[in-house]
Amino acid sequence: MTEITDAIAALVGGTPLVELAQVAPEYGVRFFAKLEGQNPTGSVKDRIVLRMLQRARELGALAPGQAIVEASTGNTGLAVAMLGRRLGHPVEICVPESVYPEIGRLLRAHHATVRWVPRQAGIKSALEVAARVAREEGAFFLDQFGNEENVRTHYETTAHEILEALPRVDAFVAGIGTGGTITGVGRRLKEANPHCRVVGVEPRLGVHLQGLTSLEEGFIPPLLDESLLDGKLLVGNRHAVSHARRVLGSEGLFVGISSGAVMHAAMRVASRLGSGNVVLIFADGGAKYLSTEIWEAADPEAAYDPEDPIDDVLWW
Ligand SMILES: Cc1ncc(COP(=O)(O)O)c(C=O)c1O
Repeated sequence: MTEITDAIAALVGGTPLVELAQVAPEYGVRFFAKLEGQNPTGSVKDRIVLRMLQRARELGALAPGQAIVEASTGNTGLAVAMLGRRLGHPVEICVPESVYPEIGRLLRAHHATVRWVPRQAGIKSALEVAARVAREEGAFFLDQFGNEENVRTHYETTAHEILEALPRVDAFVAGIGTGGTITGVGRRLKEANPHCRVVGVEPRLGVHLQGLTSLEEGFIPPLLDESLLDGKLLVGNRHAVSHARRVLGSEGLFVGISSGAVMHAAMRVASRLGSGNVVLIFADGGAKYLSTEIWEAADPEAAYDPEDPIDDVLWW
């Protein structure tokens, strides 16, 4: 197959924007979540990978049958494994050992070769290993952290879909991994409404939240345009998990841990905004985190205390 124009590719994007009526605060703020877990491999990453592969093929940078290598904590790896294979490319994914066990199993199920990098080295060293594999073994390095198509895809597709469904957006909340989602969508939403507040979510220092990057650890993703951010929230595991469970318990949506962190951040944004429409990116689904047992432990309706000082909030 030479072009990704088939039925599977047609399933990428066009995800629903749903109102979260149960978890929204009583006062005049409405929450709308973009359900990116409904993409074919279960995350927002299908969008950027489809575009990056198509563009690389168009430009001749990626030759038919050439091996593809990428660094990922999971979601991008799954998208490359599925879409790359459909295009006839062998796929290798460099993955930090800190990821959840489902990730390795899912990548192998998608026939990808997994190259593990030491836990403490994290995504930064996975990137270095992937670049070396490309240099030494002639594989094509997709490089989601440096590929402008990442930001462009969100500007042209994710943001466009949001504005079509909800013309007035007063605040936008998304996790920061490569920074592609928040930069691409944030840029377009601010063009549509210059008063739209764009708030980024990252893990607290030393905390692992799947798919998110801690800027405090010193690795600033090159695609991230921090000038677009009106605020940043550093979220801990407890709040990320309790709010992922709250969304499941109250709205019936099985979302991932970074979505829980975004949900928690949105509650803080709401209390500051007072009224308006807040759009949240739920980047993936919860199924790949089942082995963590977070879904069974303690009381799912963990009370939300707006004054809880746990998380660092940085408003510009
Ligand atoms: C679960 C999850 N949430 C959020 C993100 C952040 O998205 P981006 O890389 O566009 O910043 C990612 C990225 O990998 C992710 O996998």
